[in-house]
Amino acid sequence: MRIILFTGKGGVGKTTTASATALRLADRGLKTLLLSTDIAHSLADALDVPLTGEPTEVAPSLWAVQIDTQGRFEAAWRDVQGFLIDMLARGGVDPITADELTVLPGVDEVLALLAVRELALAGNWDALVVDCAPTAETLRLLALPEALSWYLQKVFPAHRRLARGMRPLATLMGRGEVIPPDSLFEALLRLNDELGGVQKLLGDPEVTTVRLVLTPEAVVAAEARRTFTALALYGYSVDLVVANRVFPSDDQDEWRAGWARAQAKQLTGIRESFVGLSVRELPFWGAEPVGTDALRSVAAALYPSDEDPAQIAAPKRLMGVETVTTGPHTEHVLRMPLPLAERAGVAVARAGDDLVVTVGTNRRVLALPTMLRRCDVVSGDFDGRELTVRFRARDGGDGDGERLSG
Ligand SMILES: Nc1ncnc2c1ncn2[C@@H]1O[C@H](COP(=O)(O)OP(=O)(O)OP(=O)(O)O)[C@@H](O)[C@H]1O
Ligand SMILES: [Mg+2]
Repeated sequence: MRIILFTGKGGVGKTTTASATALRLADRGLKTLLLSTDIAHSLADALDVPLTGEPTEVAPSLWAVQIDTQGRFEAAWRDVQGFLIDMLARGGVDPITADELTVLPGVDEVLALLAVRELALAGNWDALVVDCAPTAETLRLLALPEALSWYLQKVFPAHRRLARGMRPLATLMGRGEVIPPDSLFEALLRLNDELGGVQKLLGDPEVTTVRLVLTPEAVVAAEARRTFTALALYGYSVDLVVANRVFPSDDQDEWRAGWARAQAKQLTGIRESFVGLSVRELPFWGAEPVGTDALRSVAAALYPSDEDPAQIAAPKRLMGVETVTTGPHTEHVLRMPLPLAERAGVAVARAGDDLVVTVGTNRRVLALPTMLRRCDVVSGDFDGRELTVRFRARDGGDGDGERLSG
């Protein structure tokens, strides 16, 4: 089975490209499920068909589903929610407001993530195409399994022991409600298990790859670069960049030709930033590409006819960060393979929150993750195959436990 995630800044064309890709896979005979982790359901609009919480066949071999996270929240997390509502109610908040308050930001996305796994395991699909929420939420989502398991392993056992020890005393004092009940801990452990499963599925580069959608504009491209770095650092594999809404370069109209020139300049920068990755352009259509016919044209522009859209070569390992402790110092070592680079032609410089790596005439500007931004570069080395940059935390702080792998 293959899972392909589409993400990018708001409005760049994630839903359109995800739907077009799913349609293409289905047309090639793969049993494909198209779903969205974005709670602003727009798959139905792009496909121009009504959808429900159950997979609906929308074209031969293609099913689409609108995940109903509200229903799932009720079913799976009554324990957690019940406890929170109870706490808030005791604190004087009326039950209806409390109910709303416990639909925490991100909860829908988390549940959608769990649903992805459930659907992946249940339906013997050949391919799952996921239309993700805009970048920030997607990254929070993809970093969550690791963050939560860290919390549960490090903080939780102590917290739970403490809670067990205190409960009899608190009950005696009539304050038993301040201690989280065991059912809550159990619900959290279950969540942790399920998220661990999600991470195993999405972190496996043989199964899951991410496709970044952008438009050739400076602000959008900058966000895509940061996303790319973050995804690589978190260990997710990116196999395609889609540059959407590209203006034709032979336009007679001066205003549109001006835009085309500006886009061409951005596209050059984008190709430099994503060197090693396939960057494909999609033209600006004369009308919204809505419905299966229009989406098939989008797919035809995106994937050559002899290509399997599920199999696009992803660069092996884009980048990794390892934390090492030498004596009193904690150092973070960033390693990045640089295929075909000449030793003499490599330079590394820090520019604000970016690391600028120059290889011959190619330059790659990597947005540094927060943890490394708070560090100084102590050394940079290139052995002919791999670039190694050592970072050291400024006076003692080692970055608030943000963990990286990849
Ligand atoms: N190449 C294109 N040419 C013309 N219109 C396009 C193109 N790609 C997408 N659109 C249109 O632009 C709008 C936004 O596209 P889409 O919904 O795919 O973006 P999105 O990234 O999913 O947005 P959101 O972040 O809101 O979910 C839609 O109306 C879509 O039909
Ligand atoms: Mg969308």
